[in-house]
Amino acid sequence: MNKKVQDILSKMTLEDKISLCNGADFWHSKAMAQYSIPAVTMSDGPHGVRCQKNGADMLGVNESEPATCFPTAVTSGATWDAALLKAEGQAIGEEGLSCSVDVVLGPGVNIKRNPLCGRNFEYFSEDPYIAGAMGAAWVQGAQSTGAGTSLKHFAANNQEYKRFNGNSQVDERTLRELYLPAFETVIKTAQPETVMCSYPRINNVHASDNHWLLTDVLRKDWGFAGLVVTDWGAMCDRVKAMHAGCDLSMPGGSTYMEDWVAAAVRDGTLPESDVDACAARVIALALKGESRPKGHAFDKDAHNALAQKIAENGAVLLKNEGGILPLDAGDIALIGEMARTMRYQGAGSSHINPTQLTTLCDALPGVPFAAGCDVKGAVTEESLREAAETARKAKIAVVCAGLPDIYESEGFDRETMSMPEGHVRLIETVAAANPNTVVVLLCGCAVEMPWLDKVKAVLYMGLPGQAGGAAAANLLTGKANPSGKLTETWPLCYDDVPSRDTFGKKTTHYKEGLYAGYHYYDTAGKAVRFPFGYGLSYTQFAYSDLKIEGRTVSATVTNTGSTAGAEVVQLYVAPPKNGPYRPAKELKGFAKVSLQPGESQTVHFELNDRSFAVWCDGWQVPAGSYEICIGASVADIRLHAALNVDGVSLAAPDWQKGSWYETLQGLPTDAEFAALCGSALQSDPEPKKGAFTMEHSTMELKDISGAMMLMFKGTESTIAKSFGGKKDYSDPTFKMMVMSGADAPLRAAVLSSCGMFPANLAEGMLALANGHPLQGIKKMVKK
Ligand code: BGC
Repeated sequence: MNKKVQDILSKMTLEDKISLCNGADFWHSKAMAQYSIPAVTMSDGPHGVRCQKNGADMLGVNESEPATCFPTAVTSGATWDAALLKAEGQAIGEEGLSCSVDVVLGPGVNIKRNPLCGRNFEYFSEDPYIAGAMGAAWVQGAQSTGAGTSLKHFAANNQEYKRFNGNSQVDERTLRELYLPAFETVIKTAQPETVMCSYPRINNVHASDNHWLLTDVLRKDWGFAGLVVTDWGAMCDRVKAMHAGCDLSMPGGSTYMEDWVAAAVRDGTLPESDVDACAARVIALALKGESRPKGHAFDKDAHNALAQKIAENGAVLLKNEGGILPLDAGDIALIGEMARTMRYQGAGSSHINPTQLTTLCDALPGVPFAAGCDVKGAVTEESLREAAETARKAKIAVVCAGLPDIYESEGFDRETMSMPEGHVRLIETVAAANPNTVVVLLCGCAVEMPWLDKVKAVLYMGLPGQAGGAAAANLLTGKANPSGKLTETWPLCYDDVPSRDTFGKKTTHYKEGLYAGYHYYDTAGKAVRFPFGYGLSYTQFAYSDLKIEGRTVSATVTNTGSTAGAEVVQLYVAPPKNGPYRPAKELKGFAKVSLQPGESQTVHFELNDRSFAVWCDGWQVPAGSYEICIGASVADIRLHAALNVDGVSLAAPDWQKGSWYETLQGLPTDAEFAALCGSALQSDPEPKKGAFTMEHSTMELKDISGAMMLMFKGTESTIAKSFGGKKDYSDPTFKMMVMSGADAPLRAAVLSSCGMFPANLAEGMLALANGHPLQGIKKMVKK
C-alpha cells in the first residue's frame, strides 16, 4: 500500500471506510473532502463512451453525450487485429477523458457459450485465446491515454436470463480452460485498473462474494493489483464481499448492508483488515484521478474514420458465388429498411449516442431503394411486391437484413436463432425476382440461414457502428477487401448447439464442459454453416513452409490473387488423444498479414507451456505428440506437423471412459455432468410463501403473492410512463427495463435504485408477502 493511501486510511473511521466502498450515485464513487479523497467517475463502455451528464441509468435509456460509436465486439473481434483494437481503446480512452471520465467500463470478454445470449454482440468470441488478445489490446490502448478501464463481467456471465440471481454451475477445469483465460490474459498483459464482477452465482456463490474468484484466482494466481467494482447492483452480501475482495459497490446512493459490515467487524466475524484492504483500493483509484489528462477535445472525424476502418476490417464475407462481389454501385438496387434505418449497435448499457451516422443508403446516394419491410422486420404483400419490382430492374439486388433491435439486447436472451420471418420472406422474394441477389447481414450473433442457397453472396457486418454504412459500401464496391473472420461458429440450426438444453435456465448447468463452440463442432465432426475462423476475401492466399524450431513455429503466406488483401493465419494445437478429454484443436496463435498481389510473408508464432496445458489441480502439460496446425479457419487447415512435447503422464479419469465427453453422441446426461463436476447438480427450489427472501424478484413471486403482484404491476406501470403509458414488450428498451427492474432480486433492485427504493420498503413488502403484515408495516414505516 502506498504511503499516501496508508496515511488517509489511518485517519478514517470504520463507518467512513465502509461508506467509501459504496458509490455516491449512478456513476460516481464518494468524494470525502475531510480526507482529501476525490470521487471516481465511471461510464460505459465498451464500444464507445456513454457519458451521461443528466438522467443517469444503467440501461442506455437516457441520452448520453455524443461519442463515437465504434463497431460492437462481434465486429471488432472479427478483425483479428490487435493494433486496431488498441487504436480503438485509445480513441475511447481519449473520449472518456474528454468527458472527465476516470474509468471506462469495458471491455467485455465473456465467452459466447450459446448463440442466443442477448449480449453476445458485446463479447469478442467463443474462444478465450482471441477474446483475451482483443481485450488486452483494447485495455492497453485505453490506458495508454491515462484513462482507466474495467474488465467485465467477471465471470461465467454467459446468458441474460435471470442475470441478477442466476447460477452458473461449471466445473473448475472448464472455468480455468474456457471461461477464465480471456480475463487472465487481459490481467496479466494489460493490468486493467479495475475488474467488474458479474451478476450471477458461480457454483452457487455470487461473484461479489466469491473469495475463490476475486482473491484466490484474480489476485493471488494472476497478480491483479487493481480494484474490483460490482456490476451495477451485483453486490450480494456486503460482509462476505468485503472478505472476498470486492471493493466498490455500484451504483451508490443507498446505505443498504453498511450496518451489517460495521456489526460484523465489531463482533469479530469480519476482520477490519478486510475493510481496510477494500477501502485502500478505492482510495488508490480515486487518487489516480488527479493526474489524468481530462477535458481535452477529441478529433471526431479521425475517430469516425477509425470506426469505419475497424468495420471494414471486421466484416466477414460469408459467400461470394461466381465472384459476384465486388460490384459496381451503378448496377444495384438497395432493398430492406435496414439499409436506411441501419442496425449498427445493440440495446442496453453499451448504447452510444453517435457523433454522426452513415447508413448504407447514405453511403450509396442515388441508388434505387425499396424498404421491403418495416423497422421491426414486418412485411406486407405490397412491400414485397415493391421490393421484387425494384430488384428486377437492377443488375444486382442488395438486400439489407438481419436482426431488428427487439431480437437481441442486454437484459434478455434471444428466443430463437431464426431471423424475423419478414426478413426471410424479403430475401426469398428478392432472390426469386433477381438471381443476382447479395445479402448484407446486420446482427450481433449467428442466425439460421435457410435462404443461403438462393442468394449469390453474403457480407456479414455484425453490428458495425456509426460508420458501418460507409464500410459496407466500400466492401461491396471493392474499395476495401473483406478480411474479417468469424470468431464464433455459425451452426446450421439451434438444434446443433451443445448447450441447447441447459441454456436459459435459472441454474444453468454447463454440461457441455469444454465443448462449447468449435471445440464441440470440430471434435464431433458436426457439419456447421460456417466454421470458427472462416471468412472469404476478394483475393486468395497460399500457405507454405511450416517450420518448427523449439517452441517457435513459422509459416509463409502468399497472396496468389490479383487484389491486395489481408489474411488471418491461425495456429491450432491438436493434442494427443489420451488422458483427460480435450477438444480436437484449440487456437493458440494468430497473425493478420496484409499482402499485395504476389507478395509473401513469413509469420512467426511463439508457443509456451500453456499452449499445451490442461488444468488438473494446477496447469500440467501432458507429454506426447501434438499436431501443430496452420490454417485459414478451424476447418481449413493448410499445413500441419507433429511436435513432441515433454511433460507429465495424465490418465483419463474413470468417469470419463465411454461417457459423452468421449463419444459426443447426443447430449451429456445429468449423471455424466455430476461426475465431471465431482458434485451433485445444483438447483433453485421453487419459492414458497413464508420463505421468500431478498434474493427473489417480484417477477418470480408475482403469481404466488398478491403483494408482489402489486409491486410488479407498479414497476411495470412506472416504466410504462416513460413510454407514453404503453406496456409494449415489442420495444426492446421497455422489455429490458422491466426485466432489469422486476426480475432483479429485491436486494439488487434496492441497490440499483440509488436510494429511490429503500431497503426497509423492500423488506417490508417481503414480510407482507411472507404473511407477516405487522412486521411488514413496521419495517416500512421505519426511518
Ligand atoms: C451492465 C454493465 C454496465 C453497467 C453500468 C450493467 O447492467 O451489465 O455492463 O457496465 O450496467 O451501466
